[in-house]
Amino acid sequence: MRPYLLMAVLYLSLAAVTALAAALQIIDVIPFFSGLRWLRVHIITLGGLTQLAFGVLPTLAARRHGEGQPRTRWDIWLTLNLGLLILMIGIPLVNNVLIITGGSLVFTAAGLLVYDLVRLWRSQPARPIQQVDEQPEVRPFYVAAVSFLLVGILAGTGLWFGWGPALGIAAPIEVHVHSNLWGFTALLLAGLITQLYPALTGTSVAWKKLVAPSFWGMAIGATGLVAGPWMEVNALTVGGLVAHSLATAALLANWATPIKRKLTPKSPGLLHILLAYVWFFFPVVVAPLIVFRMGETANEISGSGGPILIYGWILPILYALLPYFLQRWLRPDQPAKAGGTWASLLLIQAGSIVFWVSLFVTTGQSTLRAAAYGLWLASLVPVLYQLWGSLKRLAEESEGSPVITSAPKQRDRENVDLKKQVLNE
Ligand code: HEM
Repeated sequence: MRPYLLMAVLYLSLAAVTALAAALQIIDVIPFFSGLRWLRVHIITLGGLTQLAFGVLPTLAARRHGEGQPRTRWDIWLTLNLGLLILMIGIPLVNNVLIITGGSLVFTAAGLLVYDLVRLWRSQPARPIQQVDEQPEVRPFYVAAVSFLLVGILAGTGLWFGWGPALGIAAPIEVHVHSNLWGFTALLLAGLITQLYPALTGTSVAWKKLVAPSFWGMAIGATGLVAGPWMEVNALTVGGLVAHSLATAALLANWATPIKRKLTPKSPGLLHILLAYVWFFFPVVVAPLIVFRMGETANEISGSGGPILIYGWILPILYALLPYFLQRWLRPDQPAKAGGTWASLLLIQAGSIVFWVSLFVTTGQSTLRAAAYGLWLASLVPVLYQLWGSLKRLAEESEGSPVITSAPKQRDRENVDLKKQVLNE
């Protein structure tokens, strides 16, 4: 888990650089350079999110199975990161050899991860399953998520090589985006938030029995969203979007209800997670316009609306989860909480609102978009400060200057909380 978390922090730091570059490019302070658009999206998705997935899924799936921490698969880590670095050079240069090599390495790493997760799932549990069975089953979310990632990588790597027509894909870019966002990202985040919910909030989701139907709704919906543009059948896309959205709304109600009933206090981390879903539902509101090609606004949204999903939905959830896992790694003997601050919450939401407004206006669009990237960049600062602060403390400790973290009595209390947290996960 650790090497992946370090890489995720590194890529999140690079996300700040690409947000700054985007803001400066929009207002013509720096010239256009090829590949920034790709980097801006994939530093967060392939860099931050995928590293997090590869780092935590084996551990969480093993814990759900009653097993201890699995050993780090350095072969998978190397394959994924080598592939990613090669893509980060190859895609901006549009170099075929580098793109195929990078895409194949990332595909291989994802294939090995699916294999590991399935193997773990099918093996005998290490301890009687009743002990870990109190929480809803989330492993199907993980296996389905990484399987959609495989389809997404296949379509993404082939975008320049005509694999689309060869595989009978009518709209390869849509297949790539739908498979990665509604398939991989949505299922991954749904599984993670559901599994971590008791540890993050101290209470369980409102209706445990609703988790399994939500999984099926999301998985079937994502399949429709991939099959629709693949076979050029709009009914499948729309049906998929409806099923996926209803299932996600059910899951969201499952997470939000205990907070609404004040069973757990509101924190910036939890609000980062819940408000992110306002922006996730953004395409649902505009999808009918896009599918039926209604007017200028719809074209503008389908062409430029992508950043809302990346910065409005995925990034704030990373703000909440990445510091959580980092705390669990750095201080395994203390309870951890979701990351993010009130400042990061305010700034990231302001950025998304300003970007949203920019999609509907004709004058001042560039200024608004540059301001949105500026606000998103500013929201990264407190989170990166938290993350780098944690890593700095780790470095200080490993260099021999012990850091005193809590008084003995408080530590005893924390140990009780920690036991609860680990059992909850
Ligand atoms: C090996 C892995 C991947 C490759 C080779 C790849 C490749 C590409 C390419 C070539 C584009 C088109 C860029 C453009 O039109 O400017 C694209 C767009 C996109 N990809 Fe990926 N991708 C990969 C993984 C992912 C993942 C894991 C995600 C999300 C979790 C993702 C999300 C997106 C999105 C949202 C877009 C649309 C960007 C926009 O509208 O500007 N990709 N990808």
